[in-house]
Amino acid sequence: MKILTFPLSSILTHVFLLSLLLPFSASTSPGNSLSRGSSLSAEDESPALVSSDGSFSCCFHNVGSNAYTFSIWFSKSNENTTVWTANRDSPVNGHGSRIIFRKDGSVVLTNHDDAVVWSTNTSSTEAQRMKLLDSGNLVVVDGDDNDVFVSSRTRYNSSKYGVLDEKGQFLASDRLAFNASDWGPGISRRLTLDYDGNLRLYSLNESTGSWSITWAALQRMLRAHGLRGQNGILAYTPLPQCSCPPGYKMANTSDWNKGCKPKIEINCDNPHPFKFLELRNIDF
Ligand SMILES: *[C@@H]1O[C@H](CO)[C@@H](O)[C@H](O)[C@H]1NC(C)=O
Ligand SMILES: *[C@@H]1O[C@H](CO)[C@@H](O)[C@H](O)[C@H]1NC(C)=O
Ligand SMILES: *[C@@H]1O[C@H](CO)[C@@H](O)[C@H](O)[C@H]1NC(C)=O
Ligand SMILES: *[C@@H]1O[C@H](CO)[C@@H](O)[C@H](O)[C@H]1NC(C)=O
Ligand SMILES: *[C@@H]1O[C@H](CO)[C@@H](O)[C@H](O)[C@H]1NC(C)=O
Ligand SMILES: *[C@@H]1O[C@H](CO)[C@@H](O)[C@H](O)[C@H]1NC(C)=O
Repeated sequence: MKILTFPLSSILTHVFLLSLLLPFSASTSPGNSLSRGSSLSAEDESPALVSSDGSFSCCFHNVGSNAYTFSIWFSKSNENTTVWTANRDSPVNGHGSRIIFRKDGSVVLTNHDDAVVWSTNTSSTEAQRMKLLDSGNLVVVDGDDNDVFVSSRTRYNSSKYGVLDEKGQFLASDRLAFNASDWGPGISRRLTLDYDGNLRLYSLNESTGSWSITWAALQRMLRAHGLRGQNGILAYTPLPQCSCPPGYKMANTSDWNKGCKPKIEINCDNPHPFKFLELRNIDF
């Protein structure tokens, strides 16, 4: 199995770049854009921006006690699935944080103390509005609805790319190509590098709000290593479940990622009797 050789953020960048090439919708239904000189506050309850077709929302999202992020997510998913977060490593305070479209043309996320946490770096440009498109892309556009480009959009090597198109076909420059099992237009999909190390394509069922897997890089997930710590055993039944081998216990009883350790101290000066056990259907 060939696997992708570039980070997911690169894929997303290119998916987003692709979407920029698509014709823009002429409709400007209320709520999908923020104009120069205006701002959004973390205290606002309702979604700040909603794409014209209602598929995506963008607003402050509570991620912890008084910790908020400015994020885009799939409105029709019942799991609040996030697409993108402005500087996700730096959540902001729930009081006094704002998204501000400054008069100089840049859009910034500020914390309660007015420190800039994220910026579009579009100052001194013709930027007029920030729009949330039906593709889920958040763009800064000028008065003619053309994208406002900054220094360089991507620091990745642009000769390497991966594109997921509207029908669910993925094509990459390393010739990896696959189709969603529900191939065809009109379905919201996301390609996600999951926490267990597998890359999966999901399709949204808009009537139930739930996601189903329509492609996965590793069909037999047991081939994905690294989910559990040392000496842990991961089984799919079909949900992932962890256990320790005989004679071992959890290294930390509240954290499986710390793996398993022997129940006895192994000490060469005072050796315990030991034996080897065969563990069937387990790959190291
Ligand atoms: C989704 O987000 C809303 C608003 O932040 C919250 O009230 C709701 O509990 C969230 N739902 C889930 C499943 O996390
Ligand atoms: C804006 O510029 C800063 C500093 O160069 C950079 O860290 C940041 O990623 C840029 N923001 C965007 C949205 O490109
Ligand atoms: C980009 O990658 C290609 C293929 O690996 C390589 O030939 C090219 O030199 C790279 N370009 C840059 C600017 O790194
Ligand atoms: C995806 O399906 C379409 C329609 O059947 C087909 O033309 C295309 O070659 C398929 N792509 C891949 C990568 O299998
Ligand atoms: C969405 O889920 C409903 C209820 O399970 C099901 O009847 C329907 O066929 C699903 N739609 C698609 C497109 O899979
Ligand atoms: C066990 O793991 C939890 C969560 O990672 C951590 O907070 C705790 O300090 C750990 N306990 C020990 C004894 O290392």
